[in-house]
Amino acid sequence: MIKSLLFVLAGLFFCNLSLASDPIVDPVSAPKVVWPKANSVIKKDPAIEARVATLLAAMTLKEKVGQIIQPEIKNISPAEVTKYHIGSVLSAGGSYPAKRDSGSISWVGAATKFYNASVKNPKSRAAIPIIWGVDAVHGHNNVVGATIFPHNIGLGATRNPGLIRSVGEVTAREVSVTGLSWTFAPTVAVARDQRWGRTYESYSEDPVLVSELGAAMVVGLQGLPARNDLFGPDKVIATAKHFLGDGGTNRGVDQGDTLVDEKALLLLHGQSFLAALDAGAQTVMASFNSWNGVKSHGNQYLLTDVLKDQMGFDGFVIGDWDGHEQVPGCSKQSCPQAINAGVDMIMVPKAWRAFYANTLRQVKKGEISQERLDDAVTRILRVKLRAGLFEKGKPSEGKFAGRQQIIGHPKHRAVAQQAVRESLVLLKNNNSVLPIAANSKVLIAGQAADDLVMQSGGWTVTWQGDQTTNSDFPGATSIYQGLANGVETNGGSVEKNKAGSYKQKPDVAIVVFGEPPYAEGAGDIAKTIDFQSADLAVMQKLKADGIPVVSVFITGRPLWVNPQINSSDAFVVAWLPGSEGQGLADVLLKTADGTTNFDFTGKLSFSWPKFKDQVPHNIGDKDYQPLFPYGYGLDYQSNTQLELLAE
Ligand code: BGC
Repeated sequence: MIKSLLFVLAGLFFCNLSLASDPIVDPVSAPKVVWPKANSVIKKDPAIEARVATLLAAMTLKEKVGQIIQPEIKNISPAEVTKYHIGSVLSAGGSYPAKRDSGSISWVGAATKFYNASVKNPKSRAAIPIIWGVDAVHGHNNVVGATIFPHNIGLGATRNPGLIRSVGEVTAREVSVTGLSWTFAPTVAVARDQRWGRTYESYSEDPVLVSELGAAMVVGLQGLPARNDLFGPDKVIATAKHFLGDGGTNRGVDQGDTLVDEKALLLLHGQSFLAALDAGAQTVMASFNSWNGVKSHGNQYLLTDVLKDQMGFDGFVIGDWDGHEQVPGCSKQSCPQAINAGVDMIMVPKAWRAFYANTLRQVKKGEISQERLDDAVTRILRVKLRAGLFEKGKPSEGKFAGRQQIIGHPKHRAVAQQAVRESLVLLKNNNSVLPIAANSKVLIAGQAADDLVMQSGGWTVTWQGDQTTNSDFPGATSIYQGLANGVETNGGSVEKNKAGSYKQKPDVAIVVFGEPPYAEGAGDIAKTIDFQSADLAVMQKLKADGIPVVSVFITGRPLWVNPQINSSDAFVVAWLPGSEGQGLADVLLKTADGTTNFDFTGKLSFSWPKFKDQVPHNIGDKDYQPLFPYGYGLDYQSNTQLELLAE
């Protein structure tokens, strides 16, 4: 850990020098960069290594090829798992075994069928339990009724590793209830340009903070040997993703090209992986992006020389969704290049049958060496054994399996509510309009006021987080509901009107507005980062009526909102808070006796832009001129009046 810390401090220094916009240095002619070795909390266990070797020796070529292939659950039957000796399946964002409102029972049922299929006929084949991976990226977000946490950008603002660890623990427990044992999280991307549609999956623009929080999440998800809870019955395997440089692409284009020299790649984008590996992350997902023109899925230098040899990663590399297809010369159905580069398990959602046949042929012809295939299988078996899959047996017999009441349990929601509270960042509070007296007449306006879809964002119930309504969030609390509960129980009154109309003139108006949900490239911004919506007119109208305006911004990233800030007396950034909107009321409202309930503690983990075209713009830039700097955030003690901003 000390070694990593020193490295991180060095990173702080170098990051200031190495920006995404720096001239490209040819990595071949650049002075050699030495990547530090990770010091994983999970050590090689000779007993496990011996079992891996025995299993490997018993496996046929077909069994080995099946082991490295991961289809989507929608595209494979349990019978095919047996027939092709499939090692893994996944459910992507918005994919469930039955219908959308299905509870844990259908998940456990499906998991058990896949498991049984994977260990069937042990006499004629090696009985290797299948592993099912899922995108539980802010809670077990594919499951209706699950606790939905703030997306990573909000967790970054909390700067609270202990809390992030609890978030990981709760997520792992809810995943365990559904009988699964692997999540494709955490994303440890360091987003350097908020035009990127995945900025909200990043804890921070600062690699040091991402490292700290990503490691905490890994520990929460997997447990720790020192605490005797490593891969216990309510723990899951974590995935550090996406390797490498996904947050650094030119102009923030999703799956684009990261144009930095190797030193910057290491210091900006590599450190968080080092921290995740130290914390024991057992899988790493290859990235869709390129580094200086080379697609990660085909980058042997990064996947094998750097990650496995220099950093010492001994778990397995999972490909991203058909990510191999983008390697020159490859297709969805065939890509020896990716396997040779170091991808150990190929995520090939649909075309897996052809991929299986092609890979089998390529090994026979020597296009993929037997040694490389054995290494990939060894790594997968090692992780399965470490995670106890062979001992845990049928998913339906898991200690937490099917215990539906644990999903969205009040104790879990309390952790999410704390995360919401601590993620809120106060940018303006002129004349101390906040906190609001609990017995006030409050108008709640804006498009996002009573909208669990907007407040949860992408990767919630569906991939894009769209095509859902509040009814897809049983047990959740919208921001409106939380505020109404708080105000009404204290003798105040609440009116709700999106457009800001009211019957009785309110003491204060809260306007909740922001970005609609999106995921991945669908959220990319092509040009400027100014945010526009009809809510600005609502703020202006209320202000003209002489009503103090508190604006709450639901967003996956810092955007240029000077007009909205000018039209508000107080301005709160709530990011994408998830299912526990009560966290807003906790901080915005006073207690019944007039004292502060919870103060603001959130601090910006991304720099806030002063200009519409100020991208990329990060702490450490030579001409750093943010509107609000990295780390900014007022509280109820700050006595800061914000003057009118330039529009
Ligand atoms: C994303 C990954 C995700 C995978 C599986 C891809 O599109 O890039 O982050 O884990 O899909 O859903």
